[in-house]
Amino acid sequence: MILVTGGAGFIGANFVLDWLSLHSEPVVNFDLLTYAGNLENLASVEGNPAHIFVQGDIGDTAAVARVLATYKPRAVVNFAAESHVDRSIHGPEDFIQTNIVGAFRLLETVRSYWGGLPPEDKAKFRFAHVSTDEVYGSLAPTDAAFTETSRYEPNSPYSASKAASDHLVRAYHHTYGLPVLTTNCSNNYGPFHFPEKLIPLMIVNALAGKPLPVYGDGQQVRDWLYVRDHCSAIRRVLEAGRPGEVYNIGGWNEKPNLDIVHTVCGLLDEMRPRAEGKSYSGQITFVKDRPGHDRRYAIDASKMEKELGWKPTETFESGIRKTVEWYLANPGWVANIQSGGYRDWVQKQYAAA
Ligand code: NAD
Ligand code: DAU
Repeated sequence: MILVTGGAGFIGANFVLDWLSLHSEPVVNFDLLTYAGNLENLASVEGNPAHIFVQGDIGDTAAVARVLATYKPRAVVNFAAESHVDRSIHGPEDFIQTNIVGAFRLLETVRSYWGGLPPEDKAKFRFAHVSTDEVYGSLAPTDAAFTETSRYEPNSPYSASKAASDHLVRAYHHTYGLPVLTTNCSNNYGPFHFPEKLIPLMIVNALAGKPLPVYGDGQQVRDWLYVRDHCSAIRRVLEAGRPGEVYNIGGWNEKPNLDIVHTVCGLLDEMRPRAEGKSYSGQITFVKDRPGHDRRYAIDASKMEKELGWKPTETFESGIRKTVEWYLANPGWVANIQSGGYRDWVQKQYAAA
């Protein structure tokens, strides 16, 4: 079986759902259930014996050691993190605790478990660390996209904390031989994306008739990847990636934020036209910029393609359409987040059982 940390969040939940639909191998899903963790994301696998959920903190050595000793996973995939840049600017402490201290303790606990495995299992074991393109900093308009050897230049407390975890992961391979794999991915979008991030926030606010807050001039560029393509890339890295290597994952799909917001508005105009016939784009409002806002990210994913034969399957057009459709089809999921009801979904669910 494999151990997934942070599997109740956006990407982790998509990864777990895809894994269980493609493999018979069970998943232990270890997640603290912070505000970003939502067991409702995993409702479709509730009762599936191949999905074992354990609530816990990656920084809790005893709890992680217990899970490792009980389930003896052949691999760990680490998604657990504080992930929102704006929150890291308002309060960096949680980012330092989970993304640095937590990642360090997870590595230590996994190293100890790995060290006690029989030689054959030890050789096959993998620790996959899911990281971000933000560790490379910001690009000028004509700069080449980030490669695996681009210099680390993190600019926000979030990206600095992820950079620190990447360095620790690297050091655990170099020093102790832990068979690690690091992935640095661009911006994801898709189902179960928490509506504090750009795309889901714009969908949710548009439908609620609220302003669509675009930071600064809206010309910051991100490279967007449909979340299930990210998940397929991680599965491929786990399967065939070389221990100690870094793999950049991206969608070859750079777009300025304002274009993204207009695309979302256009799809909503088509699928859920406003009663008075006006476009949702009339709700766009330019607001104060994010402090230290990175201007452009772009990923060169050619190593993934050349070495591991991976390519994204969704275009931005197909992925964003699916995403808007998913939010329109799941108003209850959004409402539970807005009311905070998702936080006691488990209690309610078990009380009813
Ligand atoms: P998310 O915020 O939606 O989910 C994070 C999950 O981790 C939540 O379920 C949360 O409860 C859990 N968690 C937080 N602290 C924990 C702790 N101490 N112990 C155990 N669980 C904990 O994040 P996401 O967008 O799904 O991102 C997942 C990973 O992918 C993160 O490491 C992030 O840095 C990375 N990443 C995200 C993106 C993106 O666009 N969202 C892109 C590249 C990389
Ligand atoms: O690049 C990968 C990263 O992508 C991940 O590591 C992060 O975990 C993930 O949150 C994401 O970071 P961003 O800061 O790029 O994502 P966010 O959705 O917060 O913002 C996308 C862009 O949109 C960014 O330039 C800021 C802008 N923005 C965001 C919000 C929430 C707005 O203009 N208005 C908004 O209200």
